[in-house]
Amino acid sequence: MPNPTMPDAAPHGLDAFAAPIRAALAAALELDADTIQLERPKNEAHGEFALPCFRFAKAAGKNPAELAGHLAATLEIPQVSAEAVGPFLNFQIDRTALAAQVLGDAGQEGFGRAADGEVTLVEYSSPNIAKPMHVGHLRSTVIGAAMARLFDHLGHQVVRINHLGDWGSQFGKLLAAWKRWGEEAELEADPIGHLLKLYVEYHEQEKDEKEGASLDAEAKAAFLALESGEDNEERRLWVRFTELSLAEFQKIYDRLDARFDLLRGESWYEDKLDSTVDWLESCGVVEDSDGARIVDLESEGIKTPCLIKTSHGTTLYATRDLAAAKSRWDEFQFARCLYFVGSEQKLHFDQFKAVLKRCGTSWWDRLEHVPFGLVRFPEGKLSTRAGRVLRLSEVLDRAVELAREIVEEKNPEHPDKDTVAEQVGVGAVIFHDLSHARNKEVVFDWKEVLSFEGDTGPSLQYTHARCCSILRRAERAVPSPSEVDPALLADAPELWVALGRFPAAVREAAEKREPMILAQQLLKIGTAGNVFYREKRVLGTGDEALEGARLAAIDALRRTLALGLGLLGVPAPTEM
Ligand code: ARG
Repeated sequence: MPNPTMPDAAPHGLDAFAAPIRAALAAALELDADTIQLERPKNEAHGEFALPCFRFAKAAGKNPAELAGHLAATLEIPQVSAEAVGPFLNFQIDRTALAAQVLGDAGQEGFGRAADGEVTLVEYSSPNIAKPMHVGHLRSTVIGAAMARLFDHLGHQVVRINHLGDWGSQFGKLLAAWKRWGEEAELEADPIGHLLKLYVEYHEQEKDEKEGASLDAEAKAAFLALESGEDNEERRLWVRFTELSLAEFQKIYDRLDARFDLLRGESWYEDKLDSTVDWLESCGVVEDSDGARIVDLESEGIKTPCLIKTSHGTTLYATRDLAAAKSRWDEFQFARCLYFVGSEQKLHFDQFKAVLKRCGTSWWDRLEHVPFGLVRFPEGKLSTRAGRVLRLSEVLDRAVELAREIVEEKNPEHPDKDTVAEQVGVGAVIFHDLSHARNKEVVFDWKEVLSFEGDTGPSLQYTHARCCSILRRAERAVPSPSEVDPALLADAPELWVALGRFPAAVREAAEKREPMILAQQLLKIGTAGNVFYREKRVLGTGDEALEGARLAAIDALRRTLALGLGLLGVPAPTEM
C-alpha cells in the first residue's frame, strides 16, 4: 500500500555512490543493475565497495582477475576510482566528494530515511497482567520498540500492538485466590506484588489433594463467571486487576520510551473466538480428538497438533492468536505482522501459522515470529511459580543507581544528576540488550553494561555529550554544509565512511530484524568520532574556515549519534 505522504527519498550517505557504481557496472557487463550486489572490501584501506568478479567472468569470456583488471581500466564513474586486486574490483570514493555528500546528509533529520510505505504490524512486549514484567519482557519491549522505530524511519506505516496476556483459565485461579486470601490494603500498596503472592499461594495450596480439588472447582467457576461476559463481581475484579497492572507497566514503558498504537489484550478477541472457530471448521481442517477440537499438522511437518478447543469447550492461547491474526488481517491487510516473542514459544507460532496455511489463507506467511534468546543475570535462575522474579523495574532502578554513582564521580558539578543518571542507567540497559545478536543468550554483567569505555551505551552517550560540549564552547554558529569547503574535511575519510554507512545499517537492521547491526555501526561511528576530535583540533586553530568545517563535522556526528541512539530508544543527554 503506497503511502502518499512519503516523498521519494534519494539515497543517502554511501548509498548515493553505490547507485552510479552499479549502473556503470550494469552497462559494462550488459546486465540489469538489480542483479549487481556490491560488497564491503574486507580491508577498509581497499575502498568503500567491492565487486567479486567470479560470477560474471564466464559470460565475459575472461577469468575473474582479467575481468577485474579490464573493468578497472575501462570504467569511468564520476568521483569514484576503481582498482583491481586479484579477482576483486574495489571502488574508492574521492575523499572530498565523500566528505561533501555525507556532511550534507548526516546533518539532516531524515538521514537514512526511505519511502517504503508498507504496512508493518509490530507486536511486542505483551506481558501478562497480575504478574510483574520480567526480564524476558524487557527484551521483547526493547527490541520490538527499536524495530518499530526503524521501520517507521524507513517510511513504513507501523502499527504497534501490545498483546497483553489478560485472558485464560489462570485468571479463574487468581480470582479464586483473591476470594480466599486477598487483602485490600496490600493490593493498594503493591498491586502486582500482592497479585503475584496470590498466584504463588494458589500453586502452593493446589499441591494438597483436598485443598487442590476445591480450589480447582472455585477457579473453574470463577473463570466461567468471567467468561459469561456479565457485569458480575468476577468481571469487576478482573477489570481492576488489569487496570492496576497496566498502571505499573506504563511506568516502565515511559522509562523505555515504548509506546503502542493498539492495546489489545487476549481478552479483546473474546467475542471473535466463536466466529474464528466456525471459520476454521468451515475450512474443513478441524477434527475431533477425544472430544477436543484439533488441527492436525503432520502434513506441515509439525508433530504436535494445534489444539483449538478443549473437551470442556474452552478456547486456548492458540485460538486467541488465530483470532487475533485473522482480525488484524481483516483490518490492515498488512505486508508483514511481526511478533517479538522469546524463542521458547517457537512451536506455538509454527503451529498457528501452519493452521492458517492449511486453511488456504493468502497471508499466513506474512506472519513472522521474531524470536530472541534469554538474558542471564548474575542473580541466578528465576521462576514465577516460586515467586522468585527479577522485576524489570528493579533492573532499571539498579542501573540508575550505579549510573548515579558514576556521574557523581565524573561530573560532581552536573546541574541535573537525577535526570542524567536515569538517562545513562536506562540507556545502558537498552543499548546492552540491542548490541548483542538478537537470537543469542545475553549475559548481563553490571560493570560491563555501565562502563563508560568500550562498546557500551554510556560510551556513545559520552561521545555525543562531548560533541555538544565542543559546540557549546565554540560560541559561534555552525556553518551549514553548503557553506563548508569539503576539501577541508577530506582528511577524515574514516569518519565519513562510518557516518556514510549509517543508512545501510538502518536498512539492514530492519531487513534482518536485527537492531545489533545499527548498534554496531553506531559504535564504529563513535570510535571514528573519538579519533576525529582527538587528532584534529576543532577550536582555536586560528583558521576560521577550517574551524567552521570541523565544527560542521562535529555537528553531523552529534546529530547522527542522537538520531541512531534515538532509533534504538537510548536517550542522548547533552551534558554528562
Ligand atoms: N503474554 C505472553 C507471555 O508473556 C506473550 C504473548 C506473545 N504474543 C502472542 N501473540 N502470542 O509469555
